Amino acid sequence: MTEVITSNELKKIAPVFGQLSFDDHEQVVFCNDKDTGLKAIVGIHNTVLGPALGGTRMWQYNSEWDALNDVLRLSRGMTFKAAVTGLNLGGGKAVIIGDAKTQKTPELMLRFGEFIHSLGGKYITAEDVGMATSDMDLVRTVTPFVTGISEEKGGAGNPSPITAYGVFMGMKAAAKYAFGSNVLEDKVVYVQGIGNVGEALVENLTNEGAKVYIDDINQARLEEIRDKYSVNIYTGNNLYAEEMDIYAPCALGATINDSTIDLLKAKVIAGAANNQLADENIHGMRLREKGIVYAPDFLINAGGIINVYAELENYGKQEIIRKTENIYNTTLEILNNAEAAGVTTHQAAFDVAQARIDARKKER
Ligand SMILES: NC(=O)c1ccc[n+]([C@@H]2O[C@H](COP(=O)([O-])OP(=O)(O)OC[C@H]3O[C@@H](n4cnc5c(N)ncnc54)[C@H](O)[C@@H]3O)[C@@H](O)[C@H]2O)c1
Repeated sequence: MTEVITSNELKKIAPVFGQLSFDDHEQVVFCNDKDTGLKAIVGIHNTVLGPALGGTRMWQYNSEWDALNDVLRLSRGMTFKAAVTGLNLGGGKAVIIGDAKTQKTPELMLRFGEFIHSLGGKYITAEDVGMATSDMDLVRTVTPFVTGISEEKGGAGNPSPITAYGVFMGMKAAAKYAFGSNVLEDKVVYVQGIGNVGEALVENLTNEGAKVYIDDINQARLEEIRDKYSVNIYTGNNLYAEEMDIYAPCALGATINDSTIDLLKAKVIAGAANNQLADENIHGMRLREKGIVYAPDFLINAGGIINVYAELENYGKQEIIRKTENIYNTTLEILNNAEAAGVTTHQAAFDVAQARIDARKKER
């Protein structure tokens, strides 16, 4: 049903600049194409460090407000992810409103690519939820401003194993900080979500001798991963309350929230999911008070962006691995910074990113 709103009510809303998620975004572009049914929004948050890079998400949003909110939030997140990782990239993201299974056609993707091209390289797209490498290959036929294309077409290929390796590095740094050693042998680790990244993380963890428990809503997948890596399937009904050394959220965001935070017994949280803290300030601070070492998500899951950055900078696998391994040093530095400054680890990571952006602005 269409929401009916009077023009007086509309005036009070401040549709874009007054959105809660609006954080001085440089540009928000609405794209519409009647013939293909394309309805997309590109959010360009900040381009001080370089072109705004971030994936395209295709999702059946409940409302256009939700789509706008998502693109604003996600593009902002990309700015800080690139900045804290030391990449010369800004933050951007695109959302296409619709069901990727039924509404994504080659024509729609090509039209979307043309819109990206019209931004002249200020925004560079990549894969996100609802997109496949083949979609990026298609977009590449109409614009060079796309990354994450297939290896056969000269791209850096699947980012998930690199993302998982970065998460593993961040987890080791957090373990060093929390337990005095970065060796994960015999540590009890719960991996929630064993998709592309979760599986590769399980592989890294089992190679090091960690005691891994896996959790997923997909039973067939659970059995497949259990058999492949000899890990345990979690069979309880409240994972958060379990005794464990490390909780690795690798499914959805916001799992650290009002209903889970008081139950958590993990000593370290380190996972791939974006936006793990339902509220960065409230839940970040609560983790600090509880003495749980939280490795900020946007810092340790940056392997994927390091992988696609290689396509722009023309560096190879060795440099990708080197940059990803450096997540260990950055995480340790940020955990120490947080302690020294008496702030949350999320805030400490954010401060490092913001300082880099401010310094570059001054140089200009
Ligand atoms: N792929 C990357 O390179 C990358 C990079 C950065 C961040 N991330 C983030 O990491 C997370 C995982 O990414 P992915 O590429 O592995 O996704 P994926 O879709 O391959 O896997 C997600 C898995 O989580 C499971 N899942 C969904 N809801 C669940 C629930 N409530 N409880 C338990 N399991 C559940 C799904 O069944 C699936 O197996 C996502 O949040 C993604 O945004 C991924």
